[in-house]
Amino acid sequence: MSEFGTVISTFEGPCTRKFSFVIKKDQVVKRGQFVQVPVEGGKLIGRIADVFKTNRYFMRPESVEKYESSKPMEEIFPVNNWEYLVADVVPLGVYGKEGMFEEVSFPPSPGVRVHEPDHKILHKFLGLDNKGLEIGELPYHNVKVRVNLTKLLQKHFAILAISGAGKSYLASVLLEELLKRTREEGQIGTVIVDTHGEYVSFAEDPKFSDRIGVFPANEIRIGLPNLTSHQIAEFLPKLSTVQVRELTRFLREMKSGKKHFGISELIQVIEEDEKAKSATKDVLVSVLYDLMETGLFGASDYPLAKEIAQQGKISIIDLSPFISSRKKQMVVAHIARRLFNGRRDSKVPPFLLVLEEAHQFVPETAKAENAISRGIVQTIAREGRKFHASLCLISQRPIQLSTTALSQCNTHVILRVTNPYDLDHIGRSAEGITRDLQNQISGLRVGTGLIIGESVNFPIFVKIRKRESRESKRGIPLEEAAKEFSERAKQRKEDAKSFM
Ligand SMILES: Nc1ncnc2c1ncn2[C@@H]1O[C@H](COP(=O)(O)OP(=O)(O)OP(=O)(O)O)[C@@H](O)[C@H]1O
Ligand SMILES: [Mg+2]
Repeated sequence: MSEFGTVISTFEGPCTRKFSFVIKKDQVVKRGQFVQVPVEGGKLIGRIADVFKTNRYFMRPESVEKYESSKPMEEIFPVNNWEYLVADVVPLGVYGKEGMFEEVSFPPSPGVRVHEPDHKILHKFLGLDNKGLEIGELPYHNVKVRVNLTKLLQKHFAILAISGAGKSYLASVLLEELLKRTREEGQIGTVIVDTHGEYVSFAEDPKFSDRIGVFPANEIRIGLPNLTSHQIAEFLPKLSTVQVRELTRFLREMKSGKKHFGISELIQVIEEDEKAKSATKDVLVSVLYDLMETGLFGASDYPLAKEIAQQGKISIIDLSPFISSRKKQMVVAHIARRLFNGRRDSKVPPFLLVLEEAHQFVPETAKAENAISRGIVQTIAREGRKFHASLCLISQRPIQLSTTALSQCNTHVILRVTNPYDLDHIGRSAEGITRDLQNQISGLRVGTGLIIGESVNFPIFVKIRKRESRESKRGIPLEEAAKEFSERAKQRKEDAKSFM
């Protein structure tokens, strides 16, 4: 392993919290890089917090000013020979003699050599897993970042960043990794709520298409006979308790009669009823008409939970045909509930539910009419781990995302975030984000992210790997989209001409 430099003695160190080393002339060492030095009891692993330059010729302002006023200093002194690079290191832990990791209780001695860490040690030290999901690589080190599936999914995770920072790209990389898993390694069912229809490109990619199911939102049906009155009431947050009670009675009557019925039959029964007050009936009929207009309700469920969650496969719920956010939420609420209940009864395999634009489905503020999916998603966030029902929340507005849900995500992958309110919110909801890391998040470039939380032993930056699947056309640059549009218009004109 290459030698980076030598530990020096400074006013503040070496101590257990920090030390500095002077960098060898031929070495390039960057902030964020990991280093290894020998200490009592093992090898200390640290992270370079900063790199700075010193030159004793320029330490005293009065002499610099004096000399420079007559001649440039480099003409008088060999100043270039006296410039040194010094790195400040924050010790993270000690890799003990028996392969155990310990806290840093002893500083390295001045004079000891600093090295690039042994990759095997670094891998173990960071809590990575050789058989895990390969997200990318550690910057500056040739070490693959593979995170353990259980550690990442069991307690949910979130992908947070501004628009265009690469959230969907990273999610696609993760989906590829999930698809690569063999039966022996343990396969889960993955369901992605695709608000913009951008994951549909997976289904068009011959490498993956056989394991992808696409469910356009306008084909989804919520089977009325399968709903309890409580579940219907979830879609109708404005109903009073009395109205819900009456609705329950009607539903019970319907269910005891025939097995297949839709909203129109339910409405008919309510209209013909003689026991309920006419005001109650009017309200129920009016809200049910409203539900009927969504076109989402039918006599049976389509697709069934077991069709959506299948081991080793991915189901894409394509919400792009819907404009109404209420309808999108209804679909999400329904699917999340079916999946979660299916998990509780062990009727569906362990699953991961990926929510793009999660702030739309689990918002922080619960305005009754637009938070239909909030309850069930929060329930999965709180209780899902017991049933192996996992969530991946993706959002560009973390501040609008439910704190309850976000705080249950024990791993955060943070790409570039610039808004100070969002940064602050992330800082408060993810444990272990120091001020220094927060500053680095706003400077991240597309393709790099920070993983923090239970999946890794320390916050680590990662260069996201290239995706193997076909990218969605919706992600192409504006110029390309414009060119493609005029190309198609030209083609249409030519087609029309040849037709005449
Ligand atoms: N790791 C990466 N390597 C190469 N290109 C990337 C990477 N991540 C993102 N990109 C590119 O950056 C663009 C934006 O990425 P992406 O669509 O994933 O952003 P996003 O965060 O999902 O944005 P939005 O919030 O608008 O959905 C895409 O064109 C994508 O190809
Ligand atoms: Mg996206």
